[in-house]
Amino acid sequence: MSDVLTPDLRLRAAPSPAPEMAPAEVEIPLGLLAEITHRCPLQCPYCSNPVALERPKAELTTAEWARVFGEAAALGVVQLHISGGEPLVRTDIADIVRAARGAGLYVNLITAAVGLTPEKADALAQAGVEHVQISVQDATSEGCNRITNYKNAFEKKMEAAKLVTDRGLPLTVNAVVHRQNLDHIEEMIVLAEALGAHRLEVAHTQYYGWAYQNRAALMPEPRQVEHATEAVRAARERLKGKLLIDYVVPDYYAKYPKPCMGGWGRQFLAVTPSGTVLPCHAAASIPGLVFDNVREKSLGWIWRRSDAFNRYRGKSWMREPCRTCPRAEEDFGGCRCQALLLTGDASNTDPVCSLSPQHAITRTLADGWSREAVPDFVYRRYQ
Ligand code: SF4
Ligand code: FES
Repeated sequence: MSDVLTPDLRLRAAPSPAPEMAPAEVEIPLGLLAEITHRCPLQCPYCSNPVALERPKAELTTAEWARVFGEAAALGVVQLHISGGEPLVRTDIADIVRAARGAGLYVNLITAAVGLTPEKADALAQAGVEHVQISVQDATSEGCNRITNYKNAFEKKMEAAKLVTDRGLPLTVNAVVHRQNLDHIEEMIVLAEALGAHRLEVAHTQYYGWAYQNRAALMPEPRQVEHATEAVRAARERLKGKLLIDYVVPDYYAKYPKPCMGGWGRQFLAVTPSGTVLPCHAAASIPGLVFDNVREKSLGWIWRRSDAFNRYRGKSWMREPCRTCPRAEEDFGGCRCQALLLTGDASNTDPVCSLSPQHAITRTLADGWSREAVPDFVYRRYQ
């Protein structure tokens, strides 16, 4: 992961700002993702951190996060997902959780968990954390430690899961799947069951950022996807009422795109470690958008009035085939970041959609690398 990419100046900038929308037309957000740090001891090849990380010195303080949580609650947010990077590297993590609970938010901690000790687990439980999500990268120590590039990651995660369930906290196991671990799907399901998880999230790798760079090693083969889909179907039947399994077909194999973030600026905001507010965690990759910061503007203003949140809100920005498509209010044209990454323009239909004139791009990526079918700018960046 040493070849850090530079921005490609040929990517087309977003269209000029949409006129400000009246607050009445803006929905109430449900969830806030607080990325409290980009620091992390693991090195997963599909990391959702941006390629350029924010520095620890720039991170919001405990008091600043407390203010953001208060503003989020006032805006109508009910769920808070505290994530990173790895949130446990913040020594004030319990204070951050306490502040969020004080603001009345439901608090889900998303963690790699290798730094969870009995003392930290106690402090988090006392602070009021309500749900913990632990990532597990493979069903075996060898696989998990190799993917995370961290010695004993697997063993530490197993201990951490027990620390969580011993304290009566609901546990979700999050398994990001790709070519390197998809053949072990049955074993991962058995592992989640053995850990006492109430939910298993089998999340196919999203091919942005690091994952896109490393996709030659990560993109699953079609037979693996078929096998995993069948394994999940069988497990859902076997474990009905015991373990909830979330699973969706990976983007590149789908007929229609997912409603990314539930629609741009409709349900969700993300705040980066230094306070920049994004409509999705990858939105900063879209050139031409202006992102505001909670150090300068209130969360409410940013949600309702900012350029970034209004640019792809609603339908007026859409082009054909989305503009007149009956599914436009179901999937909102898919993912803006993926449209940008694969077509060079975030206003295009997500090429995952089988109705997109550029759908051949995702077919080609799913079937393997073919120089002819991939635009020049993509080819130059990722070779
Ligand atoms: Fe969704 Fe646009 Fe495809 Fe219609 S054309 S299914 S709105 S992405
Ligand atoms: Fe940004 Fe989908 S990841 S809109």
